[in-house]
This record gives sequence, C-alpha cells and structure tokens, in this order.
Amino acid sequence: MSNSAVIASGNRLLRQEIRNRLTQEGVLCAGEVGDLRDLLGRCADLKPHVALLDAAYGEEIFEVIGRIARDGTTQVIVLGDELDPNLLRQSMQSGARDFILVRSEGQRLGQAIRRAVALVATPETPARPASGPGKVIAVFSTKGGVGKTTIASNLAAALAAHCGKDTALVDLDLEFGGVASMFGVHPQATVVDLCRLDAAIDHSLVAKVMVSAKLDTGPRQPGRPGGQSGKLRILAAPQSPDLAAEVDGDARRKPGHNYVGEILSAIADSTPYVVVDMGSSFRDTNLTALDRADAILLVTTPDILALQNTGKCLEILLHRLEYPREKITLVINQADTAVGVTIQEISRGLDFPVSHRLVRDARTVIWAANCGQPFVLTSPRTKVAEGLIALARQFTTPNGEAREAAK
Ligand SMILES: Nc1ncnc2c1ncn2[C@@H]1O[C@H](COP(=O)(O)OP(=O)(O)OP(=O)(O)O)[C@@H](O)[C@H]1O
Ligand SMILES: [Mg+2]
Repeated sequence: MSNSAVIASGNRLLRQEIRNRLTQEGVLCAGEVGDLRDLLGRCADLKPHVALLDAAYGEEIFEVIGRIARDGTTQVIVLGDELDPNLLRQSMQSGARDFILVRSEGQRLGQAIRRAVALVATPETPARPASGPGKVIAVFSTKGGVGKTTIASNLAAALAAHCGKDTALVDLDLEFGGVASMFGVHPQATVVDLCRLDAAIDHSLVAKVMVSAKLDTGPRQPGRPGGQSGKLRILAAPQSPDLAAEVDGDARRKPGHNYVGEILSAIADSTPYVVVDMGSSFRDTNLTALDRADAILLVTTPDILALQNTGKCLEILLHRLEYPREKITLVINQADTAVGVTIQEISRGLDFPVSHRLVRDARTVIWAANCGQPFVLTSPRTKVAEGLIALARQFTTPNGEAREAAK
C-alpha cells in the first residue's frame, strides 16, 4: 500500500504543486481541500498517513492540528512561506510532526516532502522512489492555434524516426485533442479508460491503452534515417470534450485523484522520451504536466496578440510557478520574414531568448496533417521539418541532455 496524503490549502496552484510532488514521490494524494473546515472530515474519511497543511490559513490551524494529532491516524506537516518562530513553535506544540518551507526550499520541495513522508512512513510502507528516467517534454502555450499539436506530433515522430529513441506522445488537450489524427490512427481506448479503473496505474496498464504510430510512410527518402527508428506510441485524448471531467474534473472516479500525474509517471517509467501536447490554459492537467516536465517548449507566433499572451504566460511560468529559466525553450512558429518583426526584437520584448524558429510552410504542414502523416517523415528536407528535427536532436545530444539536467 502507498503512503497517502491529504493537502489543505486555499491556494490552488500550491495544492497542485504539492499534489504533483506527492505523485512523483510515489505518495498517493488521497484528496485535497481548499477550505480548512473540510480537512477533519476528509481525514476521517480517507485516513491518510499525512495531512499537509498550509500555514497561510492562520491561527485556525492550531486547533485543527491538535484534533488530527489526537486522533492518531494521520500525521500533520505544516507548509509555511517563511520561518516564523512563533508559528513553528505553536504548530509543533499542537502536534505537527514537521514544518516545510515551501517557498524558500523552492526546487527542493520534492526532497523536503520525501524527508517528511519518510518521517511518518511505517517500515512496511516505504515511499516508492521518484518517477522513472524518461525525459518529459511539455509543448505548451496559453494562446490557441499557434502550432502546439503540429510541433508535439512532429517532434515525437522526429525523436523516434530521426533520433532512434523510443518515444511516447501523450495528448493532454483533454477537450479538443487531435494528436491521433495527425498520425491517421483511430484508438479504441483513450486516457479516460485509464481513469475508470480501480487498479493503480502502472506502465503495463498504460501500454494497453496506447496505440503504435506507423513511422515508415513508404520508400526511403533522402534525409530519412534507415533502420534505426525507435518506436512511437500514442496515448490519445478523450473522444468528446465532456469526458475530460473524468480525467481532471468533478466526474473523477476517485474524487480529487491526480490521474494525469500518475499516468505521466507510469509512461516516463518505461519510455525514454515523453512528448506532451496540451491545451491552452493553466487547468489542473496542464499544471501537472508542466510540473512533471523536464523541459517546456513554449510555442508562440510572431504577431502582437500571441506575443502579448506569451509575455503573460512567461510571467506565470517563471514567477508564480517558479520554474527555472533553463526549463523553458521558447519556439517561434510560423516565423515569416515578411511580417517585419525580428527574432532579436521578440527576445528583447519578452526578455527571454528565442531558442528555435520554425518557418511558416502551409503547403507542407497542412498537407501532411490532412494525410495523417508527420511532415518530418514525408518531407524531411523542407525547412520546417529540418527545424523540428534539429529541435529533436537538441534533446538527444549530450548538450541537450546537459541543458535538461539544469532543471
Ligand atoms: N509552421 C507552420 N506553417 C504553416 N502552418 C502551420 C505551421 N504550424 C502550424 N500550422 C497550422 O496552424 C494551425 C494550428 O496548428 P495546431 O493545431 O498545431 O495549433 P495548436 O496550438 O495545437 O492549436 P489549439 O490551441 O487549437 O490546440 C493548423 O492548421 C496547422 O496546420
Ligand atoms: Mg492543439
């Protein structure tokens, strides 16, 4: 049986962050509450090993800590922003087992949680090690229609076919995902089917739901590698937007359960490269994927609306979610010399370097999508395909790995 925890915080982003860390540490997030008054009931129902309690609720927490501690089944760990000696003393006197400085421990939050969970774990229920060795690349933008699905699909195909790496492509655009059609495949099962099971989600279970993409699209072409292709498997999005609620909404079989975190970890456990296509919001699913990602490809286009939107998105990624700059790779898609704004001007305007530029090539891109074949396979000698293949190589060469390790 896994160690389990319940999170109490009025801050949704913080809850999400902690929940993702728990999943990565193999700790089952049995539930979460936004309202402190709900915590006692939730602990009574779920009997978690640990309650992670946000100190931002104020003095009310001391009574709650005392009541949980008296019950004896659940240990309380307080999450604070700064080391306030009074808060620390009163929390411990009330019965809390530990105090974690969420903000100042920053990137070490996972480690701090592991240490805290280890404190309360019984010997027969040790925490599972952190999730597997696969590199997770999240393709994201808060602007719709900038090319996320095009880039995610072709990047995954390039990683498999041009770099010889076994790759998984996960469609987390839960409402309007279209990755499967980019490869002309028609999956019988989707991510929703995984969320309808009672069993714990592991890689063998996920493998049953994924479909293989056909990477050999005909006679060998110049620029296509021969013989060393990796496998590409796809986890498709739900077939209808209303099913998304079963994955990350109110219709979840286990309420509050982080299925997406569990699924991503299971896939990364068994696949060296995991590319994630996403929708355009900071909904829970996307926060989970962004947290779990080793690299975020932030996609934008060279028009004022997309660039303004990207500026706001970067602000959230860097300052609210506190991701290191090295985790983000900014990609300008549909770059067109005719539009009059240079890459240097874009980098300056966003105060962030543009790492990659993919040209606009409607003929190649739209034709390939309509045929259900990635253009990195059908037209590898076009500029747009060469750009995507170079991007894939960045993740598979020693320099690329080093960059990712800087996360
Ligand atoms: N480099 C490119 N050159 C020409 N057309 C492109 C290019 N990249 C993407 N497109 C086209 O732009 C449109 C939007 O692309 P895509 O669906 O990949 O964007 P998206 O960000 O995933 O959109 P959504 O937010 O709706 O999921 C598609 O018609 C696609 O074929
Ligand atoms: Mg898309």
